[in-house]
Amino acid sequence: MTTAPEGRDFAGMAAIVTGGASGIGAATAALLLRRGARVAVLDRDPAGAPPGTLPVTADVTDEDAVRTAVAAAVDALGGLDALVGNAGIGAVGTVEDNPDAEWRHVLDVNVLGLVRTARAALPHLRRSAAERPGRASITHTCSIAATAGLPQRALYSASKGAVLSLTLAMAADHVREGIRVNCVNPGTADTPWVGRLLDQAPDPAAERAALNARQPTGRMVTADEVAAAIAHLASPAASGITGTALAVDGGMQGLRPRPVL
Ligand SMILES: NC(=O)c1ccc[n+]([C@@H]2O[C@H](COP(=O)([O-])OP(=O)(O)OC[C@H]3O[C@@H](n4cnc5c(N)ncnc54)[C@H](O)[C@@H]3O)[C@@H](O)[C@H]2O)c1
Repeated sequence: MTTAPEGRDFAGMAAIVTGGASGIGAATAALLLRRGARVAVLDRDPAGAPPGTLPVTADVTDEDAVRTAVAAAVDALGGLDALVGNAGIGAVGTVEDNPDAEWRHVLDVNVLGLVRTARAALPHLRRSAAERPGRASITHTCSIAATAGLPQRALYSASKGAVLSLTLAMAADHVREGIRVNCVNPGTADTPWVGRLLDQAPDPAAERAALNARQPTGRMVTADEVAAAIAHLASPAASGITGTALAVDGGMQGLRPRPVL
């Protein structure tokens, strides 16, 4: 596949990517950097942050750590224009399977993690909106689990459904301040996370084939494909877009192709 040369549409902009040390977040941080942004990666384990980004250690379940990390990143980057709230964890099971403690933890990471990061970032995003109109944005990594019923994902889906609603509510709250809020809804993306799930499957090759076949394109999406959608929503070119969920799922949500019999 040939791709068009990347522009420098993020030149002069500063971005924070949570969970930017692996998978979709790392691909996003690397892409924003290539397109000219100064980028900080906020991660509980930032060892995998792409070269050239600023790694900042924080667990998104720790309010104080998030505030300190966001302040340090903004200080080092000289401001903040784009927040990408991407850190998240999975959970497998029906509503009977996950104990309350796991429910609290997954919601704490996947939902409250976004809340804490946005709270810490909003004063800086307001400054961006006032000084450099059209640049301030928040982009969340949601999931197709928010919009389609997937088996064995009760807790994870509940968390991502909350992310979708949170994204819309935040978009309404901050639209008059010039801060856009959107999310991407990936289908199954071939990241280290999915690699770990496949490793635990009784037949990893069969599980991979099933995940590929579930998406109408016949394959999982890549971290780079999701990153490209996040970068679009965060870019000045998307200055007219807020309160949107952009599916990056190989057609899984919207298409009903005839099965091959
Ligand atoms: N991979 C998929 O199929 C898929 C599909 C839809 C949505 N998503 C979403 O994409 C996002 C990224 O997933 P991925 O597949 O790239 O996963 P990944 O496991 O490869 O990367 C997740 C990153 O988040 C960080 N992280 C996890 N918990 C954290 C915490 N408490 N505080 C700070 N950092 C934390 C990890 O250290 C890691 O660097 C998640 O929100 C996930 O729900 C993934």
